[in-house]
Amino acid sequence: MSDMLSAELILDGLDTSIIGTRILYYSTVTSTNEIAMMEAERGEQQGTVVIADEQTAGRGRLKRTWLTPEGNIALSVVLYPEIRILQSLIMMASLAVSHSIETVTSLETQIKWPNDVLINGRKVCGILIESDVRNEKVHYAILGIGINVNAGKNVLSGVQTPATSIYLETGKEMSRLQIIRGLLKSMDNLYHTISSGGSVFNEWRDRLVTLGKEVRVTSGEEIFEGIAELVDTDGSLLVRSPDGSLNRVLAGDVSLR
Ligand code: ATP
Ligand code: BTN
Repeated sequence: MSDMLSAELILDGLDTSIIGTRILYYSTVTSTNEIAMMEAERGEQQGTVVIADEQTAGRGRLKRTWLTPEGNIALSVVLYPEIRILQSLIMMASLAVSHSIETVTSLETQIKWPNDVLINGRKVCGILIESDVRNEKVHYAILGIGINVNAGKNVLSGVQTPATSIYLETGKEMSRLQIIRGLLKSMDNLYHTISSGGSVFNEWRDRLVTLGKEVRVTSGEEIFEGIAELVDTDGSLLVRSPDGSLNRVLAGDVSLR
């Protein structure tokens, strides 16, 4: 049995100034991103966090499905960022997840470009940012984070990419509450950093396992291979093809293997 969650437990003593100042907890929802989007459409408070024990229609990137069995974390944050920091949200989210897992467990994490968090090469967290941008203005950005905490082998064996959970890596059930509180705290710090003109780029780049590796990029019908050479400060990946050309890949619609 995983630890119980509630808005009160998460909020108790949580010393954040934006992220998590309002928490909506549900036992089951379709998708926390979907609920958070409805909150954003209504203009609810920035930093609102929607969190659920279970999602019946969890969304992954590229219209894939995200499984959220009991004992995992599914949460979404409502943000109204300036457009200049939109690209940094990807970096902020994956870094905050890495920080929280590393603080609560003794595990080491890596980031697979642009924002999968891995442990020992297996995916432990997926991040989906859905934003509404009109006339160069961000109407809202929903930052959705799914972390495999206490999921066992049976649930994760069905997923396409090699996946893991904190439980599978440590052999111990882990407190979701501690990870969530660490995550909200870290996101709050990083959001302040990027909102006030600071950068999280260097740390994100240094944690990427993708650089120097051979990658296969799939973007719609197009597929190409090359060496992931470097990342740009806007988060895009530069891939050197065998013919010597350098191709810029944006985080949005690609899948990387
Ligand atoms: P690529 O390596 O091509 O980028 P990816 O697997 O990283 O692929 P994403 O869209 O980031 O692509 O991830 C969605 C994938 O994650 C789905 O294909 C699904 O198989 C897998 N998945 C779904 N639920 C989970 C989960 N709880 N943990 C890990 N992986 C999951
Ligand atoms: C990925 O494909 O890697 C992204 C997965 C994102 C999953 C999270 S779980 C919380 C939030 N709600 C969703 O429906 N998706 C995101």
